[in-house]
Amino acid sequence: MEGIELFLVATNSIGFICVCSGILRFLKWVWGMWLRPAKNLKQYGSWAIISGSTDGIGKAMGFELASEGLNLVLVGRNPLKLEGTRKEIRDRHDVEVKLVVIDMQKVEGEEIAKRVEEAIDGLDVGLLVNSAGLAYPYARFFHEVDSELMDGIIKVNLEGPTWITKAVLPTMINKKKGAILNIGSGSTVVLPSYPLVTLYAATKAYLAMFSRCISLEYKQQGIDVQCQVPLFVSTKMSKMKTSVFVPTAEKYSKTCRRWIGYEKVVQPYYLHSVQGFFIRSIPDAFVDSYLLRYFLYWRRRGQSKYSNINPLPSPNSFSQHPHSTTN
Ligand SMILES: NC(=O)c1ccc[n+]([C@@H]2O[C@H](COP(=O)([O-])OP(=O)(O)OC[C@H]3O[C@@H](n4cnc5c(N)ncnc54)[C@H](OP(=O)(O)O)[C@@H]3O)[C@@H](O)[C@H]2O)c1
Repeated sequence: MEGIELFLVATNSIGFICVCSGILRFLKWVWGMWLRPAKNLKQYGSWAIISGSTDGIGKAMGFELASEGLNLVLVGRNPLKLEGTRKEIRDRHDVEVKLVVIDMQKVEGEEIAKRVEEAIDGLDVGLLVNSAGLAYPYARFFHEVDSELMDGIIKVNLEGPTWITKAVLPTMINKKKGAILNIGSGSTVVLPSYPLVTLYAATKAYLAMFSRCISLEYKQQGIDVQCQVPLFVSTKMSKMKTSVFVPTAEKYSKTCRRWIGYEKVVQPYYLHSVQGFFIRSIPDAFVDSYLLRYFLYWRRRGQSKYSNINPLPSPNSFSQHPHSTTN
């Protein structure tokens, strides 16, 4: 009898602890998502530098930050798009905007860092947003990834943010304050795998680990590093229509901005978090099997659509493709 009582007390206690920790996690989520005051970004510095600033999330972030009075250094590969973005921002907001032309696919890492260092020399840069990114035009097996696409994804998603961060950090260390925001991917934290989009997902996993590590390295220097891991956002990259689970870049950037300076890895849009919660509660084997079938389907669709294009489309022709496999 004593044994049964002990067993009941132990299981009840474990259950109680589990429920309490679940409630605490939920309250922390509500606090972070809606109640916690956003950090005053101007306290980090009066300038922000954004890569991938000519489209999607990066561009929307540019408007968001300019609306708070931050001056901007916009990094992009296309001088005309950069100039257009500057004009749009300056038409709406009274801020200074500097432009830096870098095609991360073509420029070597050290040269990227040099150009960024020159551009921010003498500026009070407090925030870096690494948003530039490249995805597959459509899903494919790893051995089918042509060398141009492979090189592009590694350079834009991995080398680019690494070298830009290296270029910006000394300014922040000198001031003993700063914030770095890397835009990763939900595939890193929500999904057990991301088959047929392997390289993209792997570069984003790198970005999450990179952010976690440097966050610890530079916390004592007053620098807050964060990797945001959104699920789908309606942009040129995702080619997805807006829906409750797929916010516009503008909507995403508003929620994204609220989280800057806090946790190391976050999913700022609340419906992405909800999606992530349910996906994580499904056994990995089911998710893996579903994802494999899903991406095999997209591979077939992509192949039949581009069957008359040989070899496989290059990353530069990416923007013309109807479905990319981001996340
Ligand atoms: N959209 C989503 O569903 C989603 C989900 C998870 C994570 N993400 C991540 O969020 C970030 C932003 O994505 P997005 O959806 O906003 O994509 P997007 O609309 O395609 O914008 C990508 C940006 O990166 C720039 N870029 C691409 N290649 C470049 C290169 N070689 N050199 C310099 N800049 C380059 C683009 O320049 P151009 O304007 O010249 O093309 C553009 O400004 C990416 O890192 C992506 O992986 C997106």
